[in-house]
Amino acid sequence: MGGTKHRMREFAIHMCRVLGVEETKLLNLTKHAHRYAMYKVGPVLSISHGIGIPSMSVVLQEVLKLLHYAGSRDPVFFRIGTSGGLGVPPGSVVVSAWGLSGTLEKSYDIPVLGKIRKLPSYFDERLCQEVAAAASGDGYSTYIGGTMAADDYYRGQARLDGPLCDYTEADKMAFLRTLSELGVRNIEMEATAFAGYTREAGVRAADVCVTLLDRLQGDQVTSSKSTMMGWQMRPIELVGRYIAEHCRSQQA
Ligand code: URA
Repeated sequence: MGGTKHRMREFAIHMCRVLGVEETKLLNLTKHAHRYAMYKVGPVLSISHGIGIPSMSVVLQEVLKLLHYAGSRDPVFFRIGTSGGLGVPPGSVVVSAWGLSGTLEKSYDIPVLGKIRKLPSYFDERLCQEVAAAASGDGYSTYIGGTMAADDYYRGQARLDGPLCDYTEADKMAFLRTLSELGVRNIEMEATAFAGYTREAGVRAADVCVTLLDRLQGDQVTSSKSTMMGWQMRPIELVGRYIAEHCRSQQA
């Protein structure tokens, strides 16, 4: 899974090449529903989930149901995405060990029947290490670390460049340094719920994001479009390689 329809089509095309499946057969299976895109390449579903937890968690739960009715056994979920890095060079890849909420808790808090339910937001440790190990020799840095999932791109991620801002540069830096000291390596908008729901459902999952900037250095993404397009391929190639190796080991 990943945010945009375009990225998930790119991932599906990449998986066709990696698994030797004919690209011409690629179809968006959601047809005219338009809410998200879904492609099937061999044993892989490539699905877009939109921006943020509410959108992602609806798609995630629909896919959990779909896989249940399809009789799928031991599915593994990956989220590939972009993020803001914390103290890591732009273009690095972060494989999330856990998700941290906007109030600095390792949980996803969802109101159910009028009461807050806390879902622990830890990812599968072994999967996380295996995916990170598959990156070695890729020519960029890969980190295992915490990921803060914000409910907003601007104030929720301590930015100063949003339309509404009511804190200072010093407040922002103090918060970002606190995150960094807690072991957070990147900030995106889905990790806590992705970890919480997959864990509750008993399926293994990994969140693999490239960083587009170092938030300790600024708020705006200033790299060129072509540089960013190249960086966005990194999670696609890493997860693709992990899946291909897994498929080969299953066949052996
Ligand atoms: N996505 C985010 O949520 N934050 C960033 O800084 C970059 C991408």
